[in-house]
Amino acid sequence: MCITSDARTHPKIPEWEQVLSSGAVAMNMLVAANASGFDAQWLTEWYSYDESLRDDFGLNENEKIAGFMHIGTRQFSKTERDRPVIEDIYTVIERCMNVLRC
Ligand SMILES: Cc1cc2nc3c(=O)[nH]c(=O)nc-3n(C[C@H](O)[C@H](O)[C@H](O)COP(=O)(O)O)c2cc1C
Repeated sequence: MCITSDARTHPKIPEWEQVLSSGAVAMNMLVAANASGFDAQWLTEWYSYDESLRDDFGLNENEKIAGFMHIGTRQFSKTERDRPVIEDIYTVIERCMNVLRC
């Protein structure tokens, strides 16, 4: 299935939070599918960004594709990907932590 974002100016909800919500929907679907015993993968691939397919997908002029959620039963083992070294990409910003503690 396809998850889209149709974020627009709203009196209470910032556009950014609407965009984030579509990601949260997709992530929750991923977790729910896994918790129900299925495998799931969140993919965008080139077709999510192809202007010529927008009508075929039924998107309005403002809508963006957050991803396609592929859910099914595993037929074979997944191949592992290269993983980053966690210390290279994870940072604790102490200043932020101090602000939040106030
Ligand atoms: C928004 C989004 C789009 C993604 N699109 C692709 C994609 O087009 N092709 C791909 O190989 N992986 C894509 N991924 C990554 C995988 O679906 C998956 O999230 C990634 O492999 C991490 O899961 P893993 O650590 O279990 O492998 C995407 C992930 C996100 C969050």
